[in-house]
Amino acid sequence: MLIKRSPNGIDLPFSSEITPREMYESRRNFMKQVAVGAAALGGMHEAFAQNGPKLAATLNPAFSAMDKHTAYKDATTYNNYYEFGTDKSEPAIYAGSLKTRPWTVSIEGEVKKPMTLDLDALLKLAPLEERVYRLRCVEGWSMVIPWIGYSFSEIIKKVEPTGNAKYVEFVTLADKKQMPGVGSRVLQWPYTEGLRIDEANHPLALLTFGMYGDVLPNQNGAPVRMVLPWKYGFKSAKSIVKIRFVKDQPRTSWNLSAPNEYGFYSNVNPDVDHPRWSQASERRIGEDGFLARKRKTLMFNGYADVAPLYAGMDLKKFY
Ligand code: MTE
Repeated sequence: MLIKRSPNGIDLPFSSEITPREMYESRRNFMKQVAVGAAALGGMHEAFAQNGPKLAATLNPAFSAMDKHTAYKDATTYNNYYEFGTDKSEPAIYAGSLKTRPWTVSIEGEVKKPMTLDLDALLKLAPLEERVYRLRCVEGWSMVIPWIGYSFSEIIKKVEPTGNAKYVEFVTLADKKQMPGVGSRVLQWPYTEGLRIDEANHPLALLTFGMYGDVLPNQNGAPVRMVLPWKYGFKSAKSIVKIRFVKDQPRTSWNLSAPNEYGFYSNVNPDVDHPRWSQASERRIGEDGFLARKRKTLMFNGYADVAPLYAGMDLKKFY
């Protein structure tokens, strides 16, 4: 379990927001009972409501926020996935064309044991956990989603990085035939993201296969993506095909397109404004009014346990 207080005595809001297992499970049982009705109202995932979870995972309460879950319908119809269009509604409309099986991920670069794994091998690499994470988009909105996956550190253990591996690069699928947005020049394809290796090794960094008890819907990054809850949402690359351990800091798609707006680190930070808007507050999708930003954004999105990763760094410079 994550510690309650950091060594310098600052409160760690994430740890204080843990949902006790009993509470979560009784809430879940209750939700199952009302699920069919809720699904009819569009408030919940219909398959889960009718059949129970399709991707079995054990809840990790130590890594789960207490916040109310975003409705499944909102989480799956208000998306950023530029390979399927730049409008929030487009990924849900067009991502049906994405073929998620067969799927392989190649893990290569500065590792002693490079490997190419198919989806089933990846799924079996470590026990699946359910973790309720807040995800804060750089645009000023946030969601709370019960994700399913395991810590990316499990991959690091398996492939044994060499001493030269300082960063991890995530490369995602860019196939014009399946992804209508890849023809556009809005970003450089493939969509690429990166982390410092110690960030990738932090237990919060989740290699993610599912959400709301089921596999990921295509528009949310099927069949496998990252979820990095302390960073702006764009760091969490969807539909990953290649993971490269590298010596030098990788270039990333958003940094290439607007370097003064999107830095390599992109940690959620209410004190560092985006050049075109403030990051001090946010709007929780489905809860706060459509236009108004209602809640204060927390440093590292409330996941203060990651603070030691950035000790001594000027986070205004390394935005
Ligand atoms: N991954 C790819 N491949 N393409 C994208 O356009 N958008 C990012 C991120 N991952 C994106 C991506 C952005 S800006 C956000 S906010 C999150 O995905 C959104 O994830 P969600 O749709 O599951 O909420």
